Amino acid sequence: MKYADLNAAFETVFESQPSATYFAPGRINLIGEHIDYNGGHVFPCAITFGTYALIRKRDDQICNFYSMNFESLGVISVSLDAISYDETDDWVNYPKGVIKMLADTGHPIESGFDVLYYGNIPNGAGLSSSASLEVLTATFINEMYQLGVSRLDTIKLSQRAENEFVGVNSGIMDQFAVGMGQKDAAILLNTNTLDYEIVPVILEDASIVIMNTNKRRGLIDSAYNTRREECDAAFRIIKEYYDVQFICDLSMKQLLAIQTAFADDVIWRRAKHAVSENERTLEATSVLKAGNINRFGELMNESHVSLRDDYEVTGLELDTLVEKAWRVPGTIGARVTGAGFGGCAIAIVPNDAIAAFKDQVGEHYRSVVGYDATFHVATIGQGVHRLD
Ligand code: GLA
Repeated sequence: MKYADLNAAFETVFESQPSATYFAPGRINLIGEHIDYNGGHVFPCAITFGTYALIRKRDDQICNFYSMNFESLGVISVSLDAISYDETDDWVNYPKGVIKMLADTGHPIESGFDVLYYGNIPNGAGLSSSASLEVLTATFINEMYQLGVSRLDTIKLSQRAENEFVGVNSGIMDQFAVGMGQKDAAILLNTNTLDYEIVPVILEDASIVIMNTNKRRGLIDSAYNTRREECDAAFRIIKEYYDVQFICDLSMKQLLAIQTAFADDVIWRRAKHAVSENERTLEATSVLKAGNINRFGELMNESHVSLRDDYEVTGLELDTLVEKAWRVPGTIGARVTGAGFGGCAIAIVPNDAIAAFKDQVGEHYRSVVGYDATFHVATIGQGVHRLD
């Protein structure tokens, strides 16, 4: 989709010219999965797939939303004095949640707007199209209405929109990556303190390949919320022994010392994943900085095993892709990325082996799962920004 086409589409839908265009990326997470709600370290980066918004302010109280990805839904109109969750408004609940959270934090807007969105993040792929939409909306509203909200606060209130308005109890990782991403670098984020470090992703003659399971993702939100509840249960046990704020404040040694306190094996394995994943993420970032990509790849593989066996968020489709990827000669590392239960995996593959990699993994996947996976070479791009 070209820029000019988006402008033309805006004119057709709203019979006027947009006054600004913004872009927000999707994200992949290199390592540090399902620990952004356990106070752990995560290591995501923004990608060049993302969401565009073309906007024009209005003089009245109406916000008109249109998405080129959901053309059949047409223009959905919402009045600023009646912002509430409405299932029939579908995707518009995300931007509505952002407007509501801005207002609730003392930043109401005085007039509405017309907005057209277009996204090229593969649908339902777990590459954070919802965080992209939220942070995009928070950013263009903040800038166009000169609300003076900091970037970090637009990130936090975007997460709140997802948690409190849409009802998914997600952590801060996705919105943070979408808001703070930098070209060719990943973000080592401490989700407890929100301290972060930008780490260049230098893979020499290799690239990150995104592998999309193309699995229809039903019910992930409830499975995700269940994992959070299981972590809360684990934390209640930990609190009886240690004075800590989050599961990931513990070392593996400290956790192993209280293993017998966990009567339920499921709860034990959830805690074990969280603590071990946090340690892996810290090691992975330090080996990447030292240029040891092979060790980084091994840690990715270990992360996948932990998410498969202890956290149980992978499933046939992701395991088929990742386990085959491990067996293709040359692969440096491979793992699920994001929430799991379908969605995408990533692999680090030498550039001269990518074509064979796609063929071999693709063919195996089709023979096991019965439909095709899709492959994209990831480009790490910049966080949310204005384009024009
Ligand atoms: C989803 C959530 C994130 C994070 C990941 C798993 O993407 O939105 O907050 O928990 O799953 O790491």
